[in-house]
Amino acid sequence: MSLLFTFEYPKDIKPTVKYVKDKCKVNYSQFVKFNDIFKKVKQLEQTDKDVQYLYDMTARKGIKLDGTHYAFTIFHLNKKDTVLFFPEHFGDEKKCCKFYNWETGKPIGYTGEVKRKFKKLMSNMFGEEIYQAQRPAKVDDCKRQRITYIPKLQIIYHLFEYLELGGSFMINVKHYCDCMDFEIFYLLSLLFKRVTICDGSYYYGEDFLGEDRIDKETVKKMLTSNFKIEPKPKFDEYVRYLQEMFKNKTRHFELMLKKDEDAFLQNLFTFYEKLITEMNVEDSQFLYNQIYHSIIEKFRRTIVDGKIKKIHSAIKKEEGENITKLMKKYDLKKCIEVGMAFGISATYILTGNKNASLISIDPFQSTQWENYGMKLLKEFKIEKNHKLMEEKSYIALPKILMEHGEDSFDFIFIDGWHTFEMTNIDFFYATHLIKKGGIILVDDALHSSVAQSIRFFDSNYPHFKKLDVFKTQVAYQKIGEDERPWNYYSPF
Ligand SMILES: C[S@@+](CC[C@H](N)C(=O)[O-])C[C@H]1O[C@@H](n2cnc3c(N)ncnc32)[C@H](O)[C@@H]1O
Repeated sequence: MSLLFTFEYPKDIKPTVKYVKDKCKVNYSQFVKFNDIFKKVKQLEQTDKDVQYLYDMTARKGIKLDGTHYAFTIFHLNKKDTVLFFPEHFGDEKKCCKFYNWETGKPIGYTGEVKRKFKKLMSNMFGEEIYQAQRPAKVDDCKRQRITYIPKLQIIYHLFEYLELGGSFMINVKHYCDCMDFEIFYLLSLLFKRVTICDGSYYYGEDFLGEDRIDKETVKKMLTSNFKIEPKPKFDEYVRYLQEMFKNKTRHFELMLKKDEDAFLQNLFTFYEKLITEMNVEDSQFLYNQIYHSIIEKFRRTIVDGKIKKIHSAIKKEEGENITKLMKKYDLKKCIEVGMAFGISATYILTGNKNASLISIDPFQSTQWENYGMKLLKEFKIEKNHKLMEEKSYIALPKILMEHGEDSFDFIFIDGWHTFEMTNIDFFYATHLIKKGGIILVDDALHSSVAQSIRFFDSNYPHFKKLDVFKTQVAYQKIGEDERPWNYYSPF
């Protein structure tokens, strides 16, 4: 079953819009089942720490690309022109919309101030703010759906004003409680050439048609009356698709309630993998890797060959981000790491700069780590610019020095055997291998042995400048030649 459903309202069918008295209710069993389990999750998430943990990790603060983000990123065609908007005052049409810059999240103006129309992608994905403005602290999801129904229609109505012909639009639709969301789907399909639903929730209208098939006045009336669009081509297919999606979502919550973290993660991961493959977006591997990093950072798990593995000894989120930042800021390409383990730091190095190459030194990659680091690089599809030297660093580093010569690397990450003298040996070779302007980064800077080495480096290497980075790592940039006299020593 595909995670996407694409629909075009046939050109040869003339739709009619009827205004009706009552809203209809959804009674498809899969939707009801989903709604029941979702309610349970929402309740338990208040009281049960494990459920809260899994819920938070995925829905709120966890995966970098949560629902909104992945949909947005996937449909994101041109960041520059992407805006978010949502109604600020309900019922007051003139003040309807507040616009946000997607990248900065900052307001870019209000109705009236916004003179131009937007073309590429508009969205009301700040749905949460609508709820916050309108609802008492905890209402169930179906009530939320009803609360946001009119604002959603308002936004759709305002597309006539703010979206250029040919532009795109994305909206989040719940549709498992009331069937009026089915009408929203058909309304969008009259306003756009094509509508794609992603993951059963994110509706993406492509190629805005303006008043071509439905006029502004008809849509305006929808704000005050219930409506029905007839006929509804491919309705059965659409419902079947949604039921399948809600079956998936139900399973996701069942695993959450079982607190089976590994199965839950595996399910989540398979979902992202499938979605990204289906979307076939440019840079899909980049997206996949970002999601992968989020899972590693939050759950301290990796997934290799479809199996979950708990990791340890690896750098943490901030440390990984620190590496990425350095890679980008100093455009670091030719890299060495001492200590590979599960390969986590290697993934940050190789994804931090698309031209990066890396030699990892680790004497125990195949024995102690069962080649896990190497396999992880394959999952990230970054193995081709990588080489492993399965030797102790005091053997491998001089070999690299002989082969590549002095001043030949941009970045050296030291995270191997952490005794005082071994850290000094790694650093010594690194100072010779690194180019002027290149960076040596030492991990676990707070370990007492490493901390002693750092005090030594600080006082005895005047041709290196210490950079201000994350507290558990210390970075040095080579700023000049080694001009110390032969017997230089500075007490530390
Ligand atoms: C802290 S782990 C590295 C973690 C890795 N940098 C990461 O963040 O994913 C330390 C690694 O150093 C390796 N190691 C141990 N002795 C070593 C030596 N003499 N030379 C190089 N690496 C060594 C271990 O096998 C282990 O994989």
